[in-house]
Parts: sequence; C-alpha cells; structure tokens
Amino acid sequence: MIDQFDWRSGQARKSLDRILPDVESRYADRIRLAPQQWHNFRQRLHREWERLFIHMHQLYGWQYDFFFTLERTLQSLVKYWLDRPAELKALDEKREADPSWFLSEQMVGGVLYVDLFSENLSKLADYIPYFKDLNLTYLHLMPLFAVPRGDNDGGYAVSDYRAINPDIGTMDELAKLAAALREEGISLVLDFVFNHTSDEHRWAQKAKSGDPDFMAYYYTFADRALPDRFQTYLRDIFPTVRKGSFTWCQEIKRWVWTTFNSYQWDLNYTNPDVFRAMAEDMLFLANQGVEVLRLDAVAFIWKKLGTSCENQPEAHTIIKAFNAMAKIAAPCLLFKSEAIVEPEEVIRYIHPDECQLSYNPLLMALLWEALATREVKLLEHSMRNRYRIPAGCSWVNYIRCHDDIGWTFDDRDARNLGIDPAGHRRFLNQFYTGQFPGSFAKGVPFQFNADTGDVRIAGTLSSLAGLEVALEKQDNELIEQAVRRINLLRSIMMSIGGIPLLYIGDEWGMLNDYTYLTDPAKSNDSRWVHRSKKRWEARDDLSDQDTLEWRFFKEMVKLIRLRKRLPALQNGGMEVVDTGNPHLFGYIRASDSQKILILNNFAETDQQMDAAHLAFCGVKSEAVNLMNGGVLSAGVDIRLHDHQSVWLDIS
Ligand code: GLC
Ligand code: GLC
Repeated sequence: MIDQFDWRSGQARKSLDRILPDVESRYADRIRLAPQQWHNFRQRLHREWERLFIHMHQLYGWQYDFFFTLERTLQSLVKYWLDRPAELKALDEKREADPSWFLSEQMVGGVLYVDLFSENLSKLADYIPYFKDLNLTYLHLMPLFAVPRGDNDGGYAVSDYRAINPDIGTMDELAKLAAALREEGISLVLDFVFNHTSDEHRWAQKAKSGDPDFMAYYYTFADRALPDRFQTYLRDIFPTVRKGSFTWCQEIKRWVWTTFNSYQWDLNYTNPDVFRAMAEDMLFLANQGVEVLRLDAVAFIWKKLGTSCENQPEAHTIIKAFNAMAKIAAPCLLFKSEAIVEPEEVIRYIHPDECQLSYNPLLMALLWEALATREVKLLEHSMRNRYRIPAGCSWVNYIRCHDDIGWTFDDRDARNLGIDPAGHRRFLNQFYTGQFPGSFAKGVPFQFNADTGDVRIAGTLSSLAGLEVALEKQDNELIEQAVRRINLLRSIMMSIGGIPLLYIGDEWGMLNDYTYLTDPAKSNDSRWVHRSKKRWEARDDLSDQDTLEWRFFKEMVKLIRLRKRLPALQNGGMEVVDTGNPHLFGYIRASDSQKILILNNFAETDQQMDAAHLAFCGVKSEAVNLMNGGVLSAGVDIRLHDHQSVWLDIS
C-alpha cells in the first residue's frame, strides 16, 4: 500500500513536473503527430509514476545522481513508447479495456524451441495451422537470442537481447511472426533473462577489458574475501558443473558472480545503469510484439550478504518497477514469474503490480508425487492452502517444461501429514529414476549434489509416466495404463484453473531422447533428454491414425475443445473437496452460470466416492460426466476406473 502522507508522494509529483516538460520538448516533433495518444500516455504516466518513483527510490534513492536516473528513465519511457508500432498501441488499448482477457477458459498455451521444432523462425510460421489445430492462444518460444556457440544453457546465456541467434533468424522475422500469430489470436511469449548475461555480451566484454563502468554492471571481486563470506549462505544450482557461485576471470584477474554456469554473469542491479539498460531491452522486446515476458530466474536478482541471495525484497521491487514502466509504455505487456522456489516464496511474486502470471511448480511437482504414491493427501492439502492468488492474476499450469523437476513442496505441509520431507524426496527421486522397485518411470537424474544428496529429475511426460518402460516390454496392459496416467495429468492441467501450458511434443507423447549424450555441448546437462528434435505432426501422419501419437493428439484436442466450452473453467475460484477416499483428488470449478465437480483417481484400481460425500459437494440431482456423456444419478456412489478423471456438471 502506498501511504498518502508518504513524503515520497510529493517528491514524486515534483520530480515529474520538473522532468516532463524537458522530455516533451525534446520529442516535441513526434509528440505533435499523435496528440490523443500522447494524452493517453500522459494519463498512464501520471497514474503509475508515483509507484515507479517509490520503487526506484527504494533501490537508488541513496545515490547522489538519483534525479539523473529518474530523468533518463522517463526519457526511455517516452522514446520506446514513441517507437511502438501503431498495431501494438491499438492492442494496448484493447487490453486496457479488457484487463482480465488472459483469465478466460479460452486460454491454452504451448512452449517450444524454435531450432528443435522448425529449425528457424521463418519456417515456424508454416506451423500456425498446427497451433490452431491445438487451439493455442499463447505461444512461448524458448530463448532464441544471440548466444555463445556451443554450450549456452539452452539459450539462457544471452549475448544480445536485441539480436536473434543467426541460425534461427532475425529480429525482423520475429516481429513478423508476432504479427502473424496475433492475427490468429495467439500471443507471443518470450523469455526475459534479466538475472545474467553471457560472458560474450558487449557489457561483459567491456568489463573483461577492464572498463570500470562496465565492470560495475556485474559483481566482481579482487580476492576471495567477500565471495567466501557470501558463499556460506548460497546453494549450488548446477553442482555437477561447478562448485560455488563464483568464477575466476583471467582477463581482469577477478572473481565474477555466476549463479548458474560460469559463462552466465549475474547482473548487478545495485547499479541504476543496469536497471535502465535492461528496462530498455524489455521495452524493445515489447515493441517487437511480445505480449508476455517470462521473467527468468526472478529469485536470484538481488544479493545481500548474510542471506541466501534468493527472494530478497529488492528482487520484488525491481520487478514492480519494471511492471510500472511496462504499464506506462507498453501496457499490454504481462509478466510471468519463473520462481522455482518454496511455495511461500513463489506466491510473493504474483500480483497485478508485479507478475500477473506465474508457473505453478507446486502443482506440477505434486501431480508427479501423487502419481508415484497413488495417494493424494499432500496434493490435496497443498492445493487447498496454497492455490489462492490475488485477483487479476493467473497460474500457468504445466506437467513438464524444458527444466528438471524439483520437489518444491513445503516441508511443514509434509510433516503435518506425517510425511518426512527429506525421506519423501529421496523416495521420489528413486522412483522417477526407476531405481525404486516396481517403478514405472524412466527419468534421468539431474545435478546430483554429492555433498547434500540432492538431485532433480529430467525426462519427458511419457517416459516419466511409464510409457517408455511399457513400450520396451511390449506390454499392452502397461501401455494402456501409461496412457491413462498421462491423460489424468492432462485433465487436471486443463481444468484446475489457470492457463494450461503444453510442452510441445507432449501432445503426441514424445519419449526421452538419449542422443544428447553424444553431443559434447549437451552431454553434461541431462535436461536435453526431454529437449528433443524428434518430430511428429498430425498433418503428415494422416495416413496412420491408429498410432499412439494420434491417440494422444486427438485426446489432447478433445480435452482442449471441452475446456473451451466450459465457462466454469475460466480463472477464478478452485475449491478442493473432501472425497473421503485417499486416492481421489477432487475440486469444484464454478462461474456464475456453471458448476463442475472434477474427480481424479490416482490409484491403479477402481475407486469409489460415496453418495454422502458427493451430496456434500453439491451433487443434488443427476449430473452429466462431460468427459463421456455418462449420467450419474443423485444419491448413488460414483466409481472411477484406474486413473480415470471425470468432470461432472453439477450446475
Ligand atoms: C531458468 C531456466 C533454466 C536456466 C536458468 C538459468 O531457470 O528455466 O533453463 O538454466 O534459468 O538461466
Ligand atoms: C533451480 C532454480 C530455477 C532453475 C533451475 C534450473 O531450481 O531455482 O530457477 O530453473 O534451477 O535447473
């Protein structure tokens, strides 16, 4: 809350009154051409400025040249808004008139790597019909910026945010693709990798040449004194690659902060030049037609001695300041938070003034947890207490993504249910790497930490859900069971509330791909097992509709179409219900006009929910199972098959 009597309010107004006339006269020629639009811009500026001022003051108010920072920031806002193409300004207006557009049940997302999927950007446009077949409205292209050759963390080591990797295409092609997607009702989503740059970024190269202005873009240290003090509190993100969070740079003979890989240099946001430069890159990307930016590694962007340097209050302040800037100069832009941290911390990034969207890593991890244990208590308990987010925001629900699976449930939640968190994580890791006796899963360990015993899991949806093992054994019964498991997870992702995000490839059941082991740039990162070049496409394979691929694809499309017909599935409330059965996970979704009870059986046997529990959930008369048209009479028990999911209309 912003306090009305806060002195900063007056200071904010004063500084804007001082700076704006100068900036207006500087851009007078261009402003004169669009008086009405300029008026709208000024309105947004006046609405958001105080907030922006306060956040920036928190970050940089102590620096003697704060006023200069403000002035330059306003200049950037005006310049990038003036450069913003007319179609995007029109979209801004449309979105401002309907700010909850992305909460609709019509939203369905997909994510893919351009190079793996279509080789390059120009060919990607040919696949728009495929995306339309899938009914997508949101397409996330994995990082496609200029990167170092060879290992570049799958594109997350960016050398230039304004240039596309030449193997993939050009910025111009990206803008054209964005327009073509927009035309078809598909919003383009890109990453904003703002925690670090690659060590080949122009800033890093200048820093390496000893330029003090650019050394100040990063955290560099002459000796180990400070790094050692920081290090005691830090966790290793990629422990198999390197110990510790600092890398020796021979050129400047200093230690550089590198949270992820050694070639990913963390940016220093205590420096207002970094803030402004990255904000400009953000507005530049928005002007190419990007509608959602996935804020990568948000947890790590602020460092403070004596802390884990994750989820610091200033990390939130930076994002909120970016949010205010976007609302002024590119108001249709949304942020999606990538905070793969404890559930309590994940939620803190979600707010209309911070990130309107967030991955839901807790749901993702617990779906896999319930699949392994065949019990839903941890899933049920966690979703009952940790699903709610502020109005005007949405979860992005996923089963698999390009990263590993980490078991980020809350330890206290587990203990409350009598589950030992450490032991349970060990079990889950053994289960999903196929070491646990009887496991159906075929996953690959990622980043085993010999000191702590921690490990995370890589693998595709199909392989983790048992399809790979079943196919190897050529066992039809096991194959069918794996198919049911996959459909169960999909059903929850599509219905629980939020934007479902499909990892492209999963729509047709992509299996693990072990060829990464022969590529030296990839072999030490097992996440490549689920980043595959293997292709299948409905349109090419029309001839053989009898394949598993077709089944998966058709089921997926059917489910998406069903979702889009049900207003109850728009974002809003989700109420976990008591099913009275440890294997059944149930919840109610409701809109003004419709109410749906969704039940999911995580057991490998038939399970019942009795009439009394059903009545308690509001099943009063006949209820239609929207999945198959079956009718449930009131007053009787319901029986769910092995891994069945039912969507009961109880309006
Ligand atoms: C994010 C990405 C991950 C990458 C890391 C460093 O977590 O999802 O793939 O390794 O950031 O950029
Ligand atoms: C850690 C980070 C997360 C990142 C992942 C990459 O879990 O918290 O941001 O995506 O590592 O493996």
